Amino acid sequence: MSIITLGPARMGDAPAIAHLSRDLVEADLPWSWTPRRVAGLMRQRESAAVIARDRNRLAGFILAQYGDESAHIALLGVANEYRRQGIGRLLVQWVEETAMVAGLFLVRLEVRAIKRDARHFYANLGYREIDRVRGYYSGIEDAIKMSRDLRALSTSK
Ligand SMILES: CC(C)(COP(=O)(O)OP(=O)(O)OC[C@H]1O[C@@H](n2cnc3c(N)ncnc32)[C@H](O)[C@@H]1OP(=O)(O)O)[C@@H](O)C(=O)NCCC(=O)NCCS
Repeated sequence: MSIITLGPARMGDAPAIAHLSRDLVEADLPWSWTPRRVAGLMRQRESAAVIARDRNRLAGFILAQYGDESAHIALLGVANEYRRQGIGRLLVQWVEETAMVAGLFLVRLEVRAIKRDARHFYANLGYREIDRVRGYYSGIEDAIKMSRDLRALSTSK
């Protein structure tokens, strides 16, 4: 039985996050989220990295950056064997809640255009497709920009 816990990622988690990201998010693309890049983002003051663990196993991760006007989901992945258990939703909700605490009411992200399942996932969480960016991924593949306005969420609570 899996026991999933969510918590802040530590610097020592950067290599595992990077390797899982290469397999889940960047499959068939050049590896851009290397351990060094993941660690670099984690070191930034205005960033957050949260992981889902099953005991000592990395089940999922989310990396986000908080700007002046919006929060940006830089990287999200849930390992294949842990999918459809609500982990992805919990990770995104964590970013949304921390964004609102920081006074930010917009969450943005890019997703690979060919990843229909990920686009469905975000749409199901209330994200709207706002633009298509040609060649966003290494000049090879398009991205869909998506965003969610959290103001409706905060007034409905
Ligand atoms: C997208 C991803 C993070 C979803 O993680 P997850 O933990 O399986 O998602 P959840 O279980 O929280 O799903 C929440 C809802 O999203 C929708 N959803 C999730 N996966 C879906 C899929 N493959 N197809 C269609 N809808 C999906 C469903 O409505 C689901 O609710 P339900 O299971 O009650 O029907 C995961 O599939 C993944 O890591 N994909 C590869 C990496 C990636 O594309 N990352 C995003 C871009 S950076």
